[in-house]
Amino acid sequence: MRIAIAGATGQVGSPLAEAAARTGHDVVRLARSTGVDLTAPVDPALLAGADVVVDVTRTALREEEASAAFFTAVATNLGEAARSAGVSRTVLLSIIGVDRIGRAPREPAGRGPEDHYRAKWAHEQATREHAPGVRIVRAAQFHDLARVLLLALREGDTSRVAEMPVQPVALEVVVDTLLDVATGTVDEPVVEVAGPRVERFCDLAAAFATRDVPGLHVEPAPVSAVLAGGALLPGPDAVLGGPDFQTWFRHSNVASSP
Ligand SMILES: NC(=O)c1ccc[n+]([C@@H]2O[C@H](COP(=O)([O-])OP(=O)(O)OC[C@H]3O[C@@H](n4cnc5c(N)ncnc54)[C@H](OP(=O)(O)O)[C@@H]3O)[C@@H](O)[C@H]2O)c1
Repeated sequence: MRIAIAGATGQVGSPLAEAAARTGHDVVRLARSTGVDLTAPVDPALLAGADVVVDVTRTALREEEASAAFFTAVATNLGEAARSAGVSRTVLLSIIGVDRIGRAPREPAGRGPEDHYRAKWAHEQATREHAPGVRIVRAAQFHDLARVLLLALREGDTSRVAEMPVQPVALEVVVDTLLDVATGTVDEPVVEVAGPRVERFCDLAAAFATRDVPGLHVEPAPVSAVLAGGALLPGPDAVLGGPDFQTWFRHSNVASSP
């Protein structure tokens, strides 16, 4: 198959492109670093002969409105080009629970972690509106996300990290699931993928702090009712894959410590 990957140079896109190429697929890599800015109209010729487009883009913008505008532009430009090029399937990587969060009333406590989830809900909606043959893969938080946020949210010797249940997952499991859905091995409109165990997100951050950043203290930060109530947890039909966080953590790389 010819698989076009939007965001092919990223944390998810790179191993996905490698896995697709390794298993005999022809891969088209789309990213600014390969010369394609997806926030501008996309030349359908770039998708000529593609069977599927996989969207694993992300923006560094954190504020909801700007981030939603980015995802909406990418979904619209990519979707319109895919339709013109006759692509039959689109796979979007999203996040478990963004539909529940996107439909819930806003609460002051929900700002911050909710901004990205609400922007991803806009990403899903724009993709459904503009792209052909949409399948959504909603993943749980990756095992290393708590470390990324621990460092991003650091203020002095404290980092305030969301106190919410998650069921973190290994990146490899997400990549395998994306490839299964892209190739049609799994064919559902929405597929959830998560790890095997429920954890408290702030506890994961505290584990990284203790190991990697001496002196940094994690303070659990209250979140909105929808997040605290388990909106990010998978449903009963989710694909679950190991390792669990503790096993992954024991084998994870400490060489990149700040
Ligand atoms: N981390 C998690 O726990 C988690 C969980 C569930 C779902 N996800 C989702 O996974 C997705 C991918 O995340 P990631 O960590 O792989 O992101 P990432 O490492 O930041 O990669 C983002 C990719 O998007 C490309 N990109 C950004 N702006 C672009 C533009 N204007 N035009 C074309 N390409 C552009 C980047 O390439 P260039 O910079 O070269 O353009 C890069 O290839 C996100 O949408 C995220 O919501 C993440």
